[in-house]
Amino acid sequence: MEMVTVIEHPLIQHKLTLMRMKETSTAKFRMLASEVSMLLTYELTRDMPVTYESIETPLAVMTAPILKGKKLAFISILRAGNGILEGMLNLVPSARVGHIGLYRDPKTLQAIEYYFKVPDDMEHRDAIVVDPMLATGHSAAAAVTRFKSVNPKSIKFVCIIAAPEGIKYFHELHPDVPIFTAAIDEGLNEKGYIIPGLGDAGDRLFGTR
Ligand code: URA
Repeated sequence: MEMVTVIEHPLIQHKLTLMRMKETSTAKFRMLASEVSMLLTYELTRDMPVTYESIETPLAVMTAPILKGKKLAFISILRAGNGILEGMLNLVPSARVGHIGLYRDPKTLQAIEYYFKVPDDMEHRDAIVVDPMLATGHSAAAAVTRFKSVNPKSIKFVCIIAAPEGIKYFHELHPDVPIFTAAIDEGLNEKGYIIPGLGDAGDRLFGTR
């Protein structure tokens, strides 16, 4: 499996461009985030295993494919991860959902956990960890480190925009976790924002600034 996959579907790219535009309203941004995340999920679940069951249509008996096993858990990194959960759940309504909340201690710069709740059967579930922006990669890497303690069956990381610095840092700590993104941008500014990016994803999703 490729360790970094840029999903270049034209619909995703078009919607991402609309998300980047500064004049896009909160309502529109949220809708686009939901649509982009649904399309990303469609692509990154391509390798989900299926099994075959005998079913009856109104006209005949057939052997038909059906998803195999315990399926998926989406793990949202708070708070912006929540903004892309909805689109993913539209596509996979039976998925379980976990949340991981971390903040950075301003003195020690360590990631401190303030919330951690994930399904208790993670060893049977494939996990997709979600955060729209992979910027420095510090919070995503810390969240995945913590999440690995519950032994998920597998982990993929999905974001909407990644910075090269974030990909590098994330894969130094988690070379086993593939990253799926709609774009890899130029880099970070001095405040850790992705350039050109789309601004603060949390603020744009929730209208907090
Ligand atoms: N988080 C965001 O929301 N935006 C960035 O550009 C970087 C981190």
